Amino acid sequence: MSGGVEPALAVLGRGVVDVTAPALRADDLGVQRGDGVFETARVHDGRVFKLGLHLERLRRSASALGLACPADDEWRALTADVVAASGDGDGLVKLVCTRGPVAGGPVTAFALAMPMPAEAVRARAEGIDVVTLTLGVSAAARAESPWLLGGAKTLSYAVNMATLREAESRGVDDAIWLATGGEVLEGPTATVCWVAGDRLRTPPTTTGILAGTTLAVIAALADPLAFEVAAGTAADLAAADEVFLASSVRGVAGVRRIDGVPVGDGGVGPHTRRLRDAFEDAVAGRRAVAGVD
Ligand SMILES: Cc1ncc(COP(=O)(O)O)c(C=O)c1O
Repeated sequence: MSGGVEPALAVLGRGVVDVTAPALRADDLGVQRGDGVFETARVHDGRVFKLGLHLERLRRSASALGLACPADDEWRALTADVVAASGDGDGLVKLVCTRGPVAGGPVTAFALAMPMPAEAVRARAEGIDVVTLTLGVSAAARAESPWLLGGAKTLSYAVNMATLREAESRGVDDAIWLATGGEVLEGPTATVCWVAGDRLRTPPTTTGILAGTTLAVIAALADPLAFEVAAGTAADLAAADEVFLASSVRGVAGVRRIDGVPVGDGGVGPHTRRLRDAFEDAVAGRRAVAGVD
């Protein structure tokens, strides 16, 4: 254990390079068009948490874009190199694959290790306030129209970042997207979950949301709550006992208020705290979770 993960960079075909070295060209289609895919995974003391789940999703995202991403063993080698160069402690590793400068030519791929952002630690510890905002698509649109790239973790996150700025301008920490019919979708960088009685619920991926890797772990830790994939509306969130956002970066962050209205008693609820702590134990290797590693 040490002071934390230091920034480090490993580029496919070049290995570990100085973290300030260029990793792609100005004409890379990842920059020109947002044409690429990425993953962000937790790192703890040199161990990447559930890298296999992230590689599975990276492969699905790349396939949705028709992108010839490196094979898993190449990613594992690149990730091992960057993590070894980044030191111990808690942090993140981001895997990025872009189309490169010429469509059909070699892709650009790199792994970037980063320290854990302070606001993620704060969100986990203290909980967050959120607003609901429309994403402007129906819950069925992305399943009906694959070119909308529902479920793919692409580099085109400008809308996600604009949504977070809108939330900030309204004086809150984060947002929950709703479909045009009012169905709950996801946060711009997180999965939405809510506790209703003895049920832990989350929306279906048929709505075009990402299949969360954190959610997969939480589902395995849900007991004594029954884990259910179920459509919900803002009214379901308002009536829920507890609501939280889940992602690799923040882990589990309890939602205290939605659109200014307290969730439950307005604090971080007991199930959320238990799942948050169990997830952190799993990341740190203090607790085993079955499934893809
Ligand atoms: C849009 C979106 N949904 C959900 C998630 C949660 O995914 P994971 O738990 O795999 O980090 C993320 C993560 O960044 C995201 O960007």
